[in-house]
Amino acid sequence: MSTNKTFTMIKPDAVADGNSGAIIKMIEEAGFRIVALKKTQLTPERAGQFYAVHAERPFYNDLCKYMSSGPIIPIILEKENAVADFRTLIGATNPANADEGTIRKLFAKSIEANAIHGSDSDENAQIEGSFFFGNVEQF
Ligand code: GTP
Ligand code: MG
Repeated sequence: MSTNKTFTMIKPDAVADGNSGAIIKMIEEAGFRIVALKKTQLTPERAGQFYAVHAERPFYNDLCKYMSSGPIIPIILEKENAVADFRTLIGATNPANADEGTIRKLFAKSIEANAIHGSDSDENAQIEGSFFFGNVEQF
């Protein structure tokens, strides 16, 4: 994957609340192009694989339970400076600390149920995109 792509996932709380359309509209209006998108649901085991980096954190089991609690929408996005610009668009992990106008400020419920994921590096964007979509170079 080239460095102009990132990976995101609309999380179970935002999908269940009917906010996925509004969130995708914000993403497109911010200049991101959708490369791949689907609706799916993680098992607790696959959620654990996705967040394996957090396996030692005290919130890991709750996180896996929450992330497998309902449908999610994984998306590969393309834009210049995609990873950094997308992290700016979503805002801080804890919505209480998120800037006004960010996706998490508008839609997140808590530090855990925080509406949306954004990859934190080009390398992780590629790994995470492949986790859901296989070989993303095809797009
Ligand atoms: P992601 O884009 O989802 O990776 O979020 P992030 O990069 O802003 O945060 P991080 O990778 O540190 O944490 C991953 C996810 O774990 C967060 O998005 C939250 O859903 C959850 N999380 C992080 N910190 C906490 C915490 O202190 N308590 C709980 N319950 N959940 C947390
Ligand atoms: Mg993270």
